Amino acid sequence: MAEIGSEVATAASLLRAGKLVAIPTETVYGLAGNALNPAAVANIFEVKNRPSFNPLIIHTDTLEKAKQYVRSIPEAAHRLANHFWPGPLTIVLPKASIIPDIITAGLDRVAIRIPQHPLTQELLAALDFPLAAPSANPSGYVSPTEAIHVAEQLGDKIPYILDGGPCGVGIESTIVGFEGGNTVVYRWGGVSQEQLQEVLGEEVALATHHAGSAKQAPGMLKSHYSPQKQVVIGSMPKLLTCYPLEKVAIMSFQDRYPQIPMSHQVVLSPSGSLTEAAQRLFTGLRYLDTLPVTHILVELVPNEGLGRAINDRLVRAAA
Ligand code: TXA
Ligand code: MG
Repeated sequence: MAEIGSEVATAASLLRAGKLVAIPTETVYGLAGNALNPAAVANIFEVKNRPSFNPLIIHTDTLEKAKQYVRSIPEAAHRLANHFWPGPLTIVLPKASIIPDIITAGLDRVAIRIPQHPLTQELLAALDFPLAAPSANPSGYVSPTEAIHVAEQLGDKIPYILDGGPCGVGIESTIVGFEGGNTVVYRWGGVSQEQLQEVLGEEVALATHHAGSAKQAPGMLKSHYSPQKQVVIGSMPKLLTCYPLEKVAIMSFQDRYPQIPMSHQVVLSPSGSLTEAAQRLFTGLRYLDTLPVTHILVELVPNEGLGRAINDRLVRAAA
């Protein structure tokens, strides 16, 4: 069983020995290994049961280090990095040959992020290699936002979980790349469309609107982030007329529904804060998934700011 602790030195020595360690970030917990060690990286795919075509994000702690892992950085990437790093933004750039092909699933570009969590920053600063780290959940399931989530699902497969408390953002990083001179988004996450546009001074859109992007971003799987229970999206008052009430649990944005026991509902943010809703999303889905019900009924949140990322995860959880 994995030890849970907050010893950066323990995490560092395990990682130097080619072992895997779960690490806290401001978005979600990552399942980390030495990104320059193909055997350690192969073990990440195995522990997560992740398809080998789905590439991994590498994490480092300074722009100087990041430059060693890429061939070039377009001007727009510089601006985004300066503004959002450390933080919940991942940037896809032409990969340097030092990055093993297993990281990028054979693609010519590598995804990079400088995360913002004091323990993980201390860890990265102590290492002379970057960390490959997908979310620390079995492939396809809800991402972990607390150390205990990792222990429950991957605890028997890794030696150590670096416990940095609950994740502040609670939803994965936004991923951007550059295609034909445009900045495109591969996944909405902790940095919103509005924030990106403000820094870039131009419109940015999801890459699925561009031809050929499926190949560029193989991880945009339709079904993902999925609880075991069936997730159904719709208008809550309407959904509640369609299912036997004793068989459902519900996740709403702001409202309580008196016809459902309190223990069977998660209200993401009574005050209507999308920041709070993002923080509570994955913990809420995990909780509802443990209840003796058949369906989890969900309503979408306003499709603005962080709401785009929340809705993206909900739609995929329901797929
Ligand atoms: O917030 C996060 O991004 C977390 C924390 C741990 O940093 N990590 C995370 O990793 O969410 P993961 O593996 O669960 O999701 C990474 C996504 C996948 O959809 C993958 O396809 C995409 O990033 N990705 C990775 N490398 C890529 C590349 N070279 N080109 C396009 N997409 C890439
Ligand atoms: Mg993931």
